[in-house]
Amino acid sequence: MGLIDLHCHLLPAVDDGALDVADSLAMARRAVAEGFEAICATPHIRSDHDVVLEELPGRVAALQDELAAREVPLRVLPGGEVSELAVARLEARELRALTLNRGRWILLEPKAGPLSDTLDAAVERLEAHGLHALIAHPERHLGEDLFERLGRLVARGALVQATAAFFTREDTAPGMRMLAERGLVHVLGSDAHSSHGGRQIEFAGALEALAGVARVGPHLEWVADAAPRAILAGERPPLPYAPG
Ligand SMILES: [Fe+2]
Repeated sequence: MGLIDLHCHLLPAVDDGALDVADSLAMARRAVAEGFEAICATPHIRSDHDVVLEELPGRVAALQDELAAREVPLRVLPGGEVSELAVARLEARELRALTLNRGRWILLEPKAGPLSDTLDAAVERLEAHGLHALIAHPERHLGEDLFERLGRLVARGALVQATAAFFTREDTAPGMRMLAERGLVHVLGSDAHSSHGGRQIEFAGALEALAGVARVGPHLEWVADAAPRAILAGERPPLPYAPG
């Protein structure tokens, strides 16, 4: 069974991700070579990107058709990377349409700066609609109370998705390791934007780094497989470690 990427800007020409279909195909081919079987296409749902929600199912289907035509064995699944600031303006049906694989999980992007009560409010609003929050980009918010805030959100049902590439970058690896040691990394995402540069769709380095974290190492199969599969199925997987 292959890997699953829950966070990727794979759709062509829709946000700041893949430039065109050729770029998407190059990303997809590389992902297959890295052992991936499925990728959630998660375009930015944020005021600075004009993504038309109604178009997303057609865009996902069109890319899946392109992949099939070129015999690239990768499933493209629907989703979105929903800014915490966008949650309040989206209707329940729009939020449901943006869940990962039309399940119950929203990939939630905290606003810039330290985490604040507005993130809690967004998680609460999702809960009110029967949805769970998968918090993206914890590494961008390494503030004083990050661990405490994330821990509280996890205790109430949220999960944390860490950006895989940051486990292997010298400047970011120590922070990522700290998050993992605190039990605050549950699944990985590539957050890849293009085949032409930046982060690529690969988890090998991150999984190797996580293998060396006492808390997480024994549960790598959960992180790499069981948890993302549960998320795609709209379920909340039982956690093998508690935050703290
Ligand atoms: Fe992203």
